[in-house]
Amino acid sequence: MLKFEDVSFTYPNTNIEVLKNISFEISKGEWVSILGNNGSGKSTIAKLITAQYEKNSGQICLDNKIYSRENLEYIRNNIAIVFQNPDNQFVGATVEEDIAFGLENRNIDSKLMDKIISEVLDVVDMKDFRKKEPKDLSGGQKQRVAIASALALKPKILILDEASSMLDPEAREKILKYLKKINVNHNITIISISHDVEELVYSDSVILMNNGALIQKTNAAEIFKNINLLKKYSLKIPFLYRLKQDLSKYINNNIFDVNDNMEVTISKLCKLNLTR
Ligand SMILES: Nc1ncnc2c1ncn2[C@@H]1O[C@H](COP(=O)(O)OP(=O)(O)O)[C@@H](O)[C@H]1O
Ligand SMILES: [Mg+2]
Repeated sequence: MLKFEDVSFTYPNTNIEVLKNISFEISKGEWVSILGNNGSGKSTIAKLITAQYEKNSGQICLDNKIYSRENLEYIRNNIAIVFQNPDNQFVGATVEEDIAFGLENRNIDSKLMDKIISEVLDVVDMKDFRKKEPKDLSGGQKQRVAIASALALKPKILILDEASSMLDPEAREKILKYLKKINVNHNITIISISHDVEELVYSDSVILMNNGALIQKTNAAEIFKNINLLKKYSLKIPFLYRLKQDLSKYINNNIFDVNDNMEVTISKLCKLNLTR
């Protein structure tokens, strides 16, 4: 549904090409994580997808519609984005006003608006917070409202640009689980930008970026089989893999498999009679 063909981009009034011949395709309902170090061009990809900036060369298409002035409304109506900082995106005085804000530009009557607000708050488990003000909410709750506001626009693609990176691990996991639910139940395409390798377990595929170039479009299992790839591009190795690797130095090397998740790893550990 979203296609980049040989896309290159340089910011206006600069001379460094920050995206170099990027090509990829994303299908409907796919959860794609864009992974890469700071400055690798992840947010710039998001800015091109949301049509905030225009590519210099190559072609971008959404549902076979080329990114051009006449398709701009279609593009903007079908793509929503949530950013990193929960405080910068809260625009309403209350939760419901925040969600209504985005809908007001779309001439939706108040009864329908009311229904949409309830629906999207339900998805992120925030129904009881409808009348609350931002000061009553935690960072994680604000991000859930930001997601609800984005969903209210009924986008085909939801982009998250480091949307959970400022949250504590518990809140982050909760957000990722809501997103997975939305992804699966509503068949919404998710493009999640992150430098956090831990969230790859939720994704169907991974676009690995480095210094403006797309290294490869792959998936989490492949990345975990080839941890050196992460090392090569200075990305953090997931905790579980580091743990399995480190333990393997002390105990039988063949105990852990790359695909063992946390539960399997713990049950294997419990069966061991460990002495160092
Ligand atoms: N508005 C801008 N003007 C000029 N250069 C920019 C702008 N925004 C980002 N850049 C540069 O583009 C490159 C890619 O940035 P960005 O897409 O934000 O990376 P990431 O999101 O992966 O950290 C960086 O070198 C950054 O300095
Ligand atoms: Mg960024």
